[in-house]
Amino acid sequence: MITMLTRTTLAALTLLTAIGAQATDDYTQELYDIYCTACHAVSASGAPQAFTSEWEDRLDKGINTLVTHAINGIGNMPPMGTCAECSEEDLKNIILYMAQEQ
Ligand code: HEC
Repeated sequence: MITMLTRTTLAALTLLTAIGAQATDDYTQELYDIYCTACHAVSASGAPQAFTSEWEDRLDKGINTLVTHAINGIGNMPPMGTCAECSEEDLKNIILYMAQEQ
């Protein structure tokens, strides 16, 4: 009985994962919430605001350049955006997440 329930749950989870493959994963959203909102959700900071068209010109530089700038810092943007635990891949995922217009 328990085994059957577990199998059903697993199948449901697998299906959900397949459907949500295009969506940003929870870990990326969590990192964004913790480290990037301080500026990227506060327009007075001068940072390009998340989920707005302010990312269009930035994206023209290419995602790799944006990731490099996030790692090294740029202008008033601190190195790693203060996220010491972020990997290069994490930063890339967060940037692509923030750059989505909603
Ligand atoms: C203390 C404020 C602050 C925090 C925290 C911060 N940013 Fe920024 N960010 C900025 C500012 C200000 C700019 C605009 C810099 C400029 O172009 O002069 C910026 C710009 C950027 C850019 C564009 C770089 C470019 O080449 O145009 C990226 C990418 C970026 N931030 C990523 C992140 C990520 C990812 C995080 C979280 C891990 C983060 N930032 C956290 C202030 C911040």
